Order: sequence, then structure tokens, then C-alpha cells
Amino acid sequence: MSETSLQSLHPPYLHGEAAEEPLFGAIAEDLETRGYSIQPNALPIGVSEYLSARIHALEASDFAEAAVGRGVNSVQNRFVRQNKIHWAQDDHGENPWASWTDSLRTYLNRRLFLGLFSFESHFSRYDPGDFYRRHLDAFPGERNRIVSVVAYLNEGWLPDQGGELVLYHEDSSSTMVTPAAGTLVVFISEEVPHEVLPTRRSRFGLAGWYRVNANLGEQLDPPR
Ligand code: OGA
Ligand code: MN
Repeated sequence: MSETSLQSLHPPYLHGEAAEEPLFGAIAEDLETRGYSIQPNALPIGVSEYLSARIHALEASDFAEAAVGRGVNSVQNRFVRQNKIHWAQDDHGENPWASWTDSLRTYLNRRLFLGLFSFESHFSRYDPGDFYRRHLDAFPGERNRIVSVVAYLNEGWLPDQGGELVLYHEDSSSTMVTPAAGTLVVFISEEVPHEVLPTRRSRFGLAGWYRVNANLGEQLDPPR
């Protein structure tokens, strides 16, 4: 058996971080050396089954039109962004996605000393024609979102269906990511501009952010 196929097994006697050590290690190393990591087939089966069941159970009315910006400054700008979202933690509780992303949080803190404190994420749905123009996830000057995580839930995505995530690099090169089921993309929120190209097929996934605790005195860090 090759080393890669050994690494993709999750022995039943290993749980959480220990089971994910090779994957989490690769993500930490990528973040440290180049600021982003693209990992096909990264979502454990229990996590992707949970997320697919959740997103397909959501009704159209459970999705809100996505806005640009935060709080009172948020606006719906269909020129920048056209997709629909549903905040994952609106439904609360322990779930496989929450525990898996928390294991990754703990691992990244130990390896990279990032002090990541919390995680927020939303389901996202792009219908044919939807897109998200080039942007950064972190608002300049606010240390709110530190590490971005994107995960996809689309079986059998074909090259002519569009909807690629494009990551832009400092040397003006770019990387295209197919939104295929199981793929995970992790990047430093304020360093990696990115874009979602118009999709020709309904495109399902999650976008999430690890944050540091930015509470200042009485002023609570707004959760979103
Ligand atoms: C975002 C985002 C990327 C994607 O929600 O901020 O960049 O592929 N999403 O859905
Ligand atoms: Mn983004």
C-alpha cells in the first residue's frame, strides 16, 4: 500500500487530531511556507455526509442573500457577490463539522502559535450565474478573521461547469480550484485575494473563518 493511501485511512483507534495528523500537518506547513493550502479529498466521510445532508435539507427560504461588509456597514452588492448563505452555527450543538474544525484549530495553534480562538462558518449556495468577485476575507486593520476555510460538497463536478475558486498570488500568478466534493482550501484571510467564477451548476459548500478573541473591554467582538 502506498504511503498516500495509508495516510488517507482513519484507523478506528485514532480520534480527532491524531487521526488527522498527516493532513493537518500538511495544511500547517503550507500556511507557513506560502499562505494557502489546497487539499483534495480532505473532508472525512462522516463530516461530508453530515454537511451534505444538512445543506440539502435547507429550503430556499433558509438561505439569505449574501451581503458585503459587516454589521451596519454591510450592503447587498450584486455586482461584487451573488450567492446565498446560511450560518452554520445558527442551529448550534455538537456536530462533526464543529468538532473537526475545532481539532484543526487546536492543531494550528500548537504548530503556528496563531492564537485562534473561535470559528464561524456558513453554508453557501451559488445557483447558475452566481459568482463572488475578487476580494479579501479580512477587513484591513481589524484583526478579525485570521484563517479562512472553504469546503466543497459537489459530486462529479465537470470542467465546463465553471464555479472555480481562483486564488491570486503575490507574483501575480493564480491557482484555480475545482469545487469538488471533499476538497478543502485553507488560507491566511488577509493575505490571499480570491474569487469565485460564475457557476453553471448549483454549487454547494461552506466558508468559515478562525478568529482571534478581539473583545475590547465592554465592546463585544461581533460574531459576524
Ligand atoms: C467567501 C468565499 C469561496 C467559495 O465566502 O468569502 O470566498 O469558493 N467563498 O465559496
Ligand atoms: Mn472569501
